[in-house]
Amino acid sequence: MSAAPRRKQSDGQSGSAGPTASFIVVANRLPVDRVELPDGTTDWRTSPGGLVTALEPVMRAKHGAWVGWVGSPDETHDPFVEDGLQLVPVTLSAQEVRDYYEGFSNGTLWPLYHDVVAHPEFHREWWDAYVTVNQRFADRTAEVAEQNAVVWVQDYQLQLVPQMLRTQRPDLRIGFFLHIPFPPMELYQQLPWRNQIIEGLLGADLVGFQLPGGAQNFVRLVRQRLKYETQRDTVRLPDGRKVLARAYPISIDTEGFNKLAARPETAARAAEIRHHLGDPKTVFLGIDRLDYTKGIMQRIRAFGELVRDGLLDPEDCVFVQVATPSRERVDQYRLLRDDIDRLVGRLNGDIGRIGRPPITYLHSSYPREEMAALYLAADVMVVTPLRDGMNLVAKEYIACRQADDGALVLSEFAGAAKELRQAYMVNPYDINGLKDRMMEAMHDSDRAKSRRMRVMRRQVAEHNIDRWAQLFLDDLQATRP
Ligand code: F6P
Repeated sequence: MSAAPRRKQSDGQSGSAGPTASFIVVANRLPVDRVELPDGTTDWRTSPGGLVTALEPVMRAKHGAWVGWVGSPDETHDPFVEDGLQLVPVTLSAQEVRDYYEGFSNGTLWPLYHDVVAHPEFHREWWDAYVTVNQRFADRTAEVAEQNAVVWVQDYQLQLVPQMLRTQRPDLRIGFFLHIPFPPMELYQQLPWRNQIIEGLLGADLVGFQLPGGAQNFVRLVRQRLKYETQRDTVRLPDGRKVLARAYPISIDTEGFNKLAARPETAARAAEIRHHLGDPKTVFLGIDRLDYTKGIMQRIRAFGELVRDGLLDPEDCVFVQVATPSRERVDQYRLLRDDIDRLVGRLNGDIGRIGRPPITYLHSSYPREEMAALYLAADVMVVTPLRDGMNLVAKEYIACRQADDGALVLSEFAGAAKELRQAYMVNPYDINGLKDRMMEAMHDSDRAKSRRMRVMRRQVAEHNIDRWAQLFLDDLQATRP
């Protein structure tokens, strides 16, 4: 284990009671990363990423607390304050990381909720760990929550927390938001613990989904499996309590990305990136977490075939794929990484020439500034998930294109496709269709592209992350007097 992190500010604890708050976010991870300092000690930095970006402004405005895991096993920390955020760490043992996080969350629920694009595994010991860890999150939250506090539980790792929390603290107003898709009943039924999870979610006053389809899947499941009375978006429980299930499509800090893209340094960096790539006429770009749901293989294969077919000239066109390392100890992620390495290596070997690999593949994560420069450098952004709750990368690209130029190729299976309707829509399973759309996005007139981009930019400007959080929290507030 690395050196103990420095404490920047006092956590304001008095005695063993610890901090309390009237607004609490509960998520698998705390919104901080540990960084190593030159003197060998470590410190925390607020981490980038969709969820953090989404909730940080709300947290600051409401002086809330965030309950979550620090991201490494067997580490116990007292609550602390980082960059103005009150953080309440939950400890996970190495075995729990294996069974609850890598196992049940990412080996069972993740593939099951993403259309079983990979095979979900069902293990009873993984489920037991999921229950234990969810209970720990609920207990910690119950300790931190002031009377009548608002608690917002996040995502598939913590679906039992709402009910566990309500059992201990009926005074709380509890919201839950699922960041990933909620599958149709026919798939969900495979889960041996399907009823327990639905009951867990029904502990909330408001259950939020990315799309109306997810909310409808959930309500239908409640009606058919638990036989509770439902009416449109409302479930009535046997004790008379009502639970709302509604869609709140998540978004991004549009203004923040706009401003970043407008900086002269960002434009200069974008020009430098293009220069390093050999000043090609067209840069195609993909940016994703390295995940089998993202359709990375499909888009690289499509690009490779376009070059091989002679439709793209590797002297003029490059594909840049950034794949952020993710869940590296889970088998399916390891296998995917090997597959991508092999495919990129083979294609560059087949179609590249000295000093000009047509595919630049970066297995790394980058700060927001570099991402904005990449978005600016890209003529065609290719976002091809096989299933995705939303996909914030698509929205970030749009937010950065202030000149209304560029083109977005977008999978119809990303939640974002419901809002960004002017994108070049693709079915990522249809490689020929994907190739056609990539070509169309490249060859369309500037006027046609800018017409599409203008409409999408307006959409993303009006539906930003603040609005998302505000709508959810307003509805949560209205659920009970
Ligand atoms: O989109 C789902 C999600 O779990 C987010 O909540 C999270 O930011 C991202 O995937 C990364 O996942 P992990 O915490 O497993 O690295």
